[in-house]
Amino acid sequence: MSNIVVIGTQWGDEGKGKVIDFLTEQADIIVRFQGGNNAGHTVMVKDQTIILHLIPSGILHPEKKCIISNGVVIDPRELLNEIELLQSEGFILNNDSLFISEGAHLVMPYHKRIDVARENLKGGEKIGTTGRGIGPTYEDKIRRIGIRVIDLLEEDVFNEKLKANLKEKNFYLIHYLKEKEFKFEEIYEEYLDLAEKIKEYVVDTSVILNKEIENGKNILFEGAQGSFLDVDHGTYPFVTSSNTVAAGACTGAGIGPTKIDKVIGISKAYATRVGNGPFPTELVNELGESLRAKGNEYGATTGRPRRCGWFDAVMVKHAIRVNGINGLGITKLDVLSDFSKIMICTGYKYKGEVCSSIPSSLSKLERCRPIYEEMDGWGLDISKIREYNKLPDNARRYIERVEELVGAKVILVSVGSRRDETILLSNPFI
Ligand code: GDP
Ligand code: IMO
Ligand code: MG
Repeated sequence: MSNIVVIGTQWGDEGKGKVIDFLTEQADIIVRFQGGNNAGHTVMVKDQTIILHLIPSGILHPEKKCIISNGVVIDPRELLNEIELLQSEGFILNNDSLFISEGAHLVMPYHKRIDVARENLKGGEKIGTTGRGIGPTYEDKIRRIGIRVIDLLEEDVFNEKLKANLKEKNFYLIHYLKEKEFKFEEIYEEYLDLAEKIKEYVVDTSVILNKEIENGKNILFEGAQGSFLDVDHGTYPFVTSSNTVAAGACTGAGIGPTKIDKVIGISKAYATRVGNGPFPTELVNELGESLRAKGNEYGATTGRPRRCGWFDAVMVKHAIRVNGINGLGITKLDVLSDFSKIMICTGYKYKGEVCSSIPSSLSKLERCRPIYEEMDGWGLDISKIREYNKLPDNARRYIERVEELVGAKVILVSVGSRRDETILLSNPFI
């Protein structure tokens, strides 16, 4: 029995969906515990590509259970769209595949409007959010005025909470953001209709999960976003509004820390970021464009081009510390195959001084210049390789140098987007 948390060690889009789908074969239950449909997790099985935003990436294995737990913020319209899309592809056909927490907070239409309007107001200073209403929803949760899934199922409670919220939100929308207000009826009717359609999935997911843990089942906790988008440990304020680090799995799923056996960090063999904020190894040149083209680096949720750069060992080492990572999964190694020289950032230079950790001051981080170590590329297609020892020497040297610099063992190497394009060095479930 093993309960494993899988999280991103960079700025999201590390290939968590692909790795979760791959590891699901050995799991019984897969849990999304934070974030919302700002996430876009791409899963490719044979020639079928599915991008999951809210539903765990284990859902393409029909015999497994998937849970959306209390820490997730749910846009019920988007959830229903995703359920219907998956059903049309032959998934979620029995009532034992998907469970949704009563305690998860709802993304409301006003959250999305506020998110987008605030970003527009900020102009050049914007965070570059996904515009999915994630920040405003978590704000309401922390302010204790949020609306939970269970509130939606109790018509009187929903009525009261929606009225109270609209009073304040409409004032803010009209007078501060200069936006259109919302009419109570338009939201009320639509949300009650959605409630009817999702209520069959709604349960107390913490109870189910803890029972399954007691029964010795294998659980996979699927992180969304990445460590540097964490509201406490990321490049604040250019972050998302939840705890994306491994510890978030406990509060976000209603399990105790004693129940977690392993934490696996996922990292691209290089680095990308969507949205604004510091990115020390960013390549704003042809090399960056080449990484974007070869890695097809366009956001799975918004379609925005991802900013690209070299692997930053300082960042990943920090992620290993704040998550307690005991195994790394390196993805997209195949994307580096055509580069004759590959750089790894081993430290930063700030005002002539070398620093080997990330400064908390954003303005200092923005002025940090990466110190690079150059490595030789391998110049061979590696996407058909399934055994670590068969990788070209220079590819193995690259992986081993990453391990040395960040201080963690690589347990998985991904060499393509499909499920089978994976090299497993050490099985985390054993
Ligand atoms: P996530 O948000 O962490 O799940 O990652 P995304 O799905 O947003 O982005 C990762 C992208 O890389 C997706 O298009 C995946 O299909 C793709 N991908 C994942 N692993 C690999 C890999 O090893 N090689 C290549 N070439 N693509 C990969
Ligand atoms: P997955 O799970 C990459 C980024 C946004 C923005 C910041 C805040 O696919 O890795 P938000 O809408 O959350 O308030 O935006 O966070 N962001 C992501 N970047 N992958 C994601 O998810 C992201 N989810 C949010 O681009 O910079
Ligand atoms: Mg993504």
